[in-house]
Amino acid sequence: MKFSFANPTQIQFGQGQIASIKELIPKDKKILMIYGGGSIKNNGVYEQVQNALSEHDWQEFSGVEPNPTVETLNKAVAIVKQQDIDFILAVGGGSVADGSKYVAAAAKYDGEGWDILTGKHQVTAAVTLGVILTIPATGSESNGAAVITKAATQDKLAFISPLVFPKFAVLDPDVMRTLPPRQLANGVVDAWVHICEQYLTIPSNAMVQEGYAEALLRNLRILAANFSQQDDSWRANLMWTANQALNGLIGAGVTQDWATHIIGHELTALYGVDHARSLAIIQPSLLRNQIVHKKAKLEQMGRNVFNLDDNEELAELTIQAIENFYHSVDVATQLTEHGSDKSAAVEAIINKLTQHGMLKIGEHEAITIEASRAILQAAVA
Ligand code: NZQ
Ligand code: ZN
Repeated sequence: MKFSFANPTQIQFGQGQIASIKELIPKDKKILMIYGGGSIKNNGVYEQVQNALSEHDWQEFSGVEPNPTVETLNKAVAIVKQQDIDFILAVGGGSVADGSKYVAAAAKYDGEGWDILTGKHQVTAAVTLGVILTIPATGSESNGAAVITKAATQDKLAFISPLVFPKFAVLDPDVMRTLPPRQLANGVVDAWVHICEQYLTIPSNAMVQEGYAEALLRNLRILAANFSQQDDSWRANLMWTANQALNGLIGAGVTQDWATHIIGHELTALYGVDHARSLAIIQPSLLRNQIVHKKAKLEQMGRNVFNLDDNEELAELTIQAIENFYHSVDVATQLTEHGSDKSAAVEAIINKLTQHGMLKIGEHEAITIEASRAILQAAVA
């Protein structure tokens, strides 16, 4: 085991914590508050921010879409550059947090912001940012990753930089009261797959990372089996579990996969599938395709997360238990958004993976384009 781990984001967890941004953001900062389509105006979050910032110099930018686009975000980049903004406050879900990270980094770069996504530009500076989270799912509130879409070309790509870790993240579970059931289910599934991407690889003997990953997976099973959005502790446990799933801890020093995410992003970019739903579509067939490599960890998950008995078919039974878990929260495991032409859809996705250089993915680089095609044949209806 060998790793370097730091998570610099200060977590402000619990009811009423939005008010704490008053002290967390210095008064001499010029703030751009970034948010999405307006859900924060219907649930009191906007007013809480307004009250907390009553003595600050701030302005706002709204309209960041789910799966945020560079086309929209570049308008915010222009504001940050023109107005000398030196603090970005993201108020929303993963899309707003990711979009704000892009704005923070692109505002400190003279070239085309999209270069950050293609890897042409490595981030060297970023405007300081803080996040008020409104949906537990991505972990973006306290990690250094962002996923951005270029609508014009239907490309959805990620960048990672330690410079875009939020300075703070406010996690007040009360904001979840207004989440539509579909978004809550998405959050459960996304957090689940984040844990799997860092766990369902090869046995690591890393007792802390594996044991904590299993504890988080068991939490999600329990929370999904007892959906109770109006219950304080249910919301708090889901919010904290989703955060811990992708704050770097369970992934430290262990082999990771992320192939489900890589393929899933293409489904979102091409067919508009919700992020979490793209993962539930790809993951079961990917696990079956890679069962030789993942057998030991699937069996361990079967025993320690699903309480299954030892059995020759344990790895396959674990995959079935994962599928049942998704179905239990009304999340489908087959793509239907592409219409009726299955082979055209499979080839369109394969073309995008090829174009993005995703020719050998997964922890063993065993998911070649041929393997991706086989995975998609099983995952596309
Ligand atoms: O835009 P508004 O009006 O706020 O509505 C949003 C949006 O329509 C709504 N919503 C959010 N909080 C709400 C609410 N509605 C009512 N009450 C609330 N409290 O929910 C919808 C979805 O929001 P979004 O931010 O898109 O959801 P999520 O947090 O699932 O983020 C998904 C994005 O994050 C990326 C995904 O690819 C996708 O673009 N990811 C980011 C990661 C990271 N940075 O580490 C990792 C993930 O794997 C993921 O790729
Ligand atoms: Zn995800």
